[in-house]
Amino acid sequence: MSQRRRQLALNAFFMRFGHHPAAWRHASQRDSGRPDAAYWIRMAQLAEQGKFDTFFLADFIGRSGDGLAGSSRAGISFQFEPFTLLSAIATQTRHIGLVATVNTNFTHPYNVARQFASLDHISGGRAGWNVVSSFNPSTGKNFGLPTPSREERYGRAAEFLTLSKQLWDSWDDEAFDHPNRQTGQFFDPRHAHPVQHQGDYFHAEGLLDVARPIQGYPVIVQAGNSEQGKEFCAEHAEMTYCSAQSIDVGQAYYRDVKSRMAKFGRDPDELFVTPGLSVVVRESAQEAREIFEELQNAVDFSRGVQLMGLDVSGLPLDEPLPADLTPYLGKSDNGVGRTQQLIELARRENLTIRQLALRFSVAKGHIQVVGSPTEVADTIQEWFEGHAADGFNVVPPLLPSGFEDFVTLVVPELQRRGLFRKEYTGKTYRENLGLRTPGNQHASVLAKDEAIAV
Ligand SMILES: Cc1cc2nc3c(=O)[nH]c(=O)nc-3n(C[C@H](O)[C@H](O)[C@H](O)COP(=O)(O)O)c2cc1C
Repeated sequence: MSQRRRQLALNAFFMRFGHHPAAWRHASQRDSGRPDAAYWIRMAQLAEQGKFDTFFLADFIGRSGDGLAGSSRAGISFQFEPFTLLSAIATQTRHIGLVATVNTNFTHPYNVARQFASLDHISGGRAGWNVVSSFNPSTGKNFGLPTPSREERYGRAAEFLTLSKQLWDSWDDEAFDHPNRQTGQFFDPRHAHPVQHQGDYFHAEGLLDVARPIQGYPVIVQAGNSEQGKEFCAEHAEMTYCSAQSIDVGQAYYRDVKSRMAKFGRDPDELFVTPGLSVVVRESAQEAREIFEELQNAVDFSRGVQLMGLDVSGLPLDEPLPADLTPYLGKSDNGVGRTQQLIELARRENLTIRQLALRFSVAKGHIQVVGSPTEVADTIQEWFEGHAADGFNVVPPLLPSGFEDFVTLVVPELQRRGLFRKEYTGKTYRENLGLRTPGNQHASVLAKDEAIAV
């Protein structure tokens, strides 16, 4: 184990209007449904005001089947392509880490390596990459491509990441520090390490056209839930987004994924496990419950019920799930772990389809707390100290008010308990997380003074 002090990480994971499927209909909402970059910039600034580690943009490349079809935001959650939006946010924030989701099925590592290198330079070393390989078959359809099997998509993702790292390492950190105006030599060729890659999925030869990222590599995030996903996570990820509804499930996942790291020569402290935390908080628990009820009552069931790979549209809403669910399960086994969580929850608590939909479409299998700042902070503390979480993805059901409440009510309580930072201490996202900055795989061939003399 390393000597790094364990620290709580908080990530902001937002959807336009909030994660609740009826958030866009809430009386507090005034905005149209048009894309609004200023709104996202304000949200990221608010997260930074709350000293959050991360502003995370998920991406499903196209519409996702998100919960109750009629009440959702037409499945379009962010309305922007992540790099474009995060670049704008980068110029209006100073400290917060900026995590873009990139799916490795539909693009080439050269594209992605230069996008992340660019974002890292634009933001002063604050880029992170949520490496996903898509569990949603509708994404592939947008490209006219089938969604590959899980084995194939994780194999491709691993090669994608390896090649991206080679491309980032194709320049030494100091390659462009000393352009020699007298000799006309812009860089010393010994700082360049052209890539020669012939793999199962990708071929690439040459140098990246952007300097090595300030952080070496962006912080690597992963959210896989299957066996292959957890192995990928243990080998490569520095943060994992996951979901767990009870602390024992959270602890089991935490132990599982961290215990897999040793065989890849990694220390468990190199990975932040951050389950989702859906919070409605007000000064009084009663007020929080009233807001939550308003949202729940606005959910529209008239357009069918599709939940995480389970389509039960047409079944009676006020009865439990049928014993045999085979006819209602999606064809793909991608995302099957989360479907299983949903079914287990329904069986365990004997929920009707309506109750299940209301529970799952709100928190999406994440921890759910509706209550006072003390209750929310207690949950955070219990999970953190009980080694079920190193931090959380805060997923507010209602935006912006739900997140303003979190920042003004919960963050000070966490700070008062000594659980969360009062100020950012590092310059880069990695430094604020206490993660090491990876060196170049190519040892520099130049001695320090030789490099300066060039
Ligand atoms: C908090 C969280 C955020 C996720 N964000 C995305 C995303 O933005 N895009 C995406 O395609 N998948 C996303 N996923 C899905 C995962 O990448 C993964 O596909 C899913 O958990 C199923 O695991 P598996 O791929 O190992 O079967 C997310 C999952 C979680 C828990």
